[in-house]
Amino acid sequence: MGAVRRIGVLTGGGDCPGLNAVIRAVVKTATTYYEWEVIGIEDGFEGLIKEGKTHPLTNETVRGILPRGGTILGSTNRGNPFAYRERKEGEVTVTDLSRQVIDRCERLRLDALLVIGGDGSLGIANDFFKLGVPVVGIPKTIDNDLSATDVTFGFDTALNTATEAIDKLHTTAESHHRVMVLEVMGRHAGWIALEAGLAGGGDIILIPELPFQVDRVVEQIRRRDASGRSFSIVVVAEGAAPAGVGLFTIEPRDPLARARLGGIGDWLADQVGQRTEHEVRSLVLGHLQRGGSPTPRDRILGTRFGVEAVRLASREQFGHMVALRGTEIVAVTLDEAVGVLKTVPPESALVHNARCLGVSFGDES
Ligand code: F6P
Repeated sequence: MGAVRRIGVLTGGGDCPGLNAVIRAVVKTATTYYEWEVIGIEDGFEGLIKEGKTHPLTNETVRGILPRGGTILGSTNRGNPFAYRERKEGEVTVTDLSRQVIDRCERLRLDALLVIGGDGSLGIANDFFKLGVPVVGIPKTIDNDLSATDVTFGFDTALNTATEAIDKLHTTAESHHRVMVLEVMGRHAGWIALEAGLAGGGDIILIPELPFQVDRVVEQIRRRDASGRSFSIVVVAEGAAPAGVGLFTIEPRDPLARARLGGIGDWLADQVGQRTEHEVRSLVLGHLQRGGSPTPRDRILGTRFGVEAVRLASREQFGHMVALRGTEIVAVTLDEAVGVLKTVPPESALVHNARCLGVSFGDES
């Protein structure tokens, strides 16, 4: 018997389809195969800061969750224990509560802590690992922006949702000879926009990695008009920006919340409307991309990650994260995992392929 008997699992950051598949795989593997106990920690690291936010997970508690979106454990993209922001008597205070979290892990007698998160939560997990917490990471995010893994679960489902939206916009755009602008998520990476744009046959795809010019966007719409295609579909990533202009962000009213990306779609629709004769409509796809039942691909990837993360814990290979490389699940260090964001290489084959099809990225090429 190894040293591990009891593990904790939490989901941190923005949710995504497939989280429940991971939780289910972790619980089934840990309890049935290894005969360990599993403690579910609610709302990310908050569950290790506040009392009463942990509960045992058994095969019974994870029954039926495989096809469900979201996370049965709850999540938050606030509450970094190393810089915990609270509002006290109208003032925002920032406190380091990391010691509290470490003590809590000890009181819970956790031999391993499995953190399912994106770069933010995995960065926090890595900091705890360096303070002695036996952490194993599992990568998630619809943005697919973690460089240490070929793909994250959640991305495929988001891609399906965005592609379906483009398909639906196509028919109405064509009927009304309109330009439709669809703003999709992805933070500073253009993966969702690029791949959904390709899968949905978008005419103009705007991504953060390739600053665009409105003039080039308008040129493409005119080109299409001249060739008898009287409508156009523009897919714009929330992190895309016109050359020389900063990111479009939405400032939160809540001082504890961080600024979000957003607004480029409406802005661009207005610009195109002013410079062409077309009626233009914009749509922000928003959190629809984070919801819904995970695709089979995301269920399988989430399941494989969950099983392999438990196996890493059994080997006490802490400070590592499971990752997909080719067809294999491998272990990479958390240092490597949180080092660099994976963005779309501007010279990548996928971008080149899209250009060959006549897609415009709104740039000079
Ligand atoms: O990282 C996932 C993500 O959905 C991003 O694509 C998006 O920018 C962000 O989270 C939205 O965050 P929130 O849920 O706080 O609005």
